[in-house]
Amino acid sequence: MRIGFLCSGGDSPGMNACLRSVVRTAVTSGNEVIGIKHGYEGLLNEEFHTNIDGTIIMGMRSVSGLSKIGGTILHSSRCKRLETPEGIELAAKILKKYGFDALLPMGGNGTLTGALELGKVWDGQIIGLPGTIDNDLQGTDFTIGFFTAVQTAVEAVDKLRDTAGSHDLMFFVEVMGRHCGDIALATAIASGAEIVCIPEVEESAETLVQALIKIKESGKTSVMAIVAEGDEKGGAIAIQQLLKEAGNPFDSRTVVLGHTLRGGSPAPADRILASELGNFAVTSVLRGETGKMAGRIKGELTLTPLETCIAQHRKVDTEKLRLLQIVAG
Ligand code: F6P
Repeated sequence: MRIGFLCSGGDSPGMNACLRSVVRTAVTSGNEVIGIKHGYEGLLNEEFHTNIDGTIIMGMRSVSGLSKIGGTILHSSRCKRLETPEGIELAAKILKKYGFDALLPMGGNGTLTGALELGKVWDGQIIGLPGTIDNDLQGTDFTIGFFTAVQTAVEAVDKLRDTAGSHDLMFFVEVMGRHCGDIALATAIASGAEIVCIPEVEESAETLVQALIKIKESGKTSVMAIVAEGDEKGGAIAIQQLLKEAGNPFDSRTVVLGHTLRGGSPAPADRILASELGNFAVTSVLRGETGKMAGRIKGELTLTPLETCIAQHRKVDTEKLRLLQIVAG
């Protein structure tokens, strides 16, 4: 069987570890992997990863040492052309031209939406892999890259807390998460932040200022607020301004972590998840599965229909919100 692997959309730490697992599982079972460069855009342009000797079939040594490498050696892109029927038709034609039997696209919501559309016109098998730091997909408890993003954010917040403590300051720290507050919430719990602003929970500036007044009265001299970029009030800069106008009792600063969270050597938890899901995606196509995404739910490896994975963004765990309120003291 000839299997294609591509990374599309925002890169996430663990994409290389997943490719390594896919290639080694396929080679071990007598199958072939070709790495497609620059996501769906590269597929449309017929761009393939080449080994040192110029061949394109990936072997055991093509993926040596990849577990610890951030980003994606295949490169990624956001592909507008795949959102058109012509782009989908062309992608199917190219997959056929190169004799692919299966495709493993790795990415987030947009990547899986493209996979679903492609599956309607191409007769090969498709198993998606959840590669995004946002942790916003249905069909898996965690997406590959989330753990590293949270680790990076927590390290930054810990450092900022030192300065906040020294200068009696409040920091608004913005993390990624267009539609999902999971990175923000996990970062807040792990770093001991007092406030979290996420798209799933609407809170007025007045309510937040009341909370800040109480925090000040309780004797705290520094405050960390973790803001998901997709919060309905805006990002960290907008919220800082809104709260200032509403009477925030703390002098404050903002820090936008942005794309920093997408880089770096993957955390062990992401490397392990990537290895498990890469292996599972290959064994799944070998069993004849298609039209699904590989995931891990409550410790079990699972396949969920692509339609379900992209139907809506994963809901934030409200129990964790309750926990934050308690542990923030
Ligand atoms: O990968 C998803 C994400 O991290 C979002 O949280 C963010 O809004 C987006 O990527 C930004 O990515 P880019 O600037 O590459 O379009």
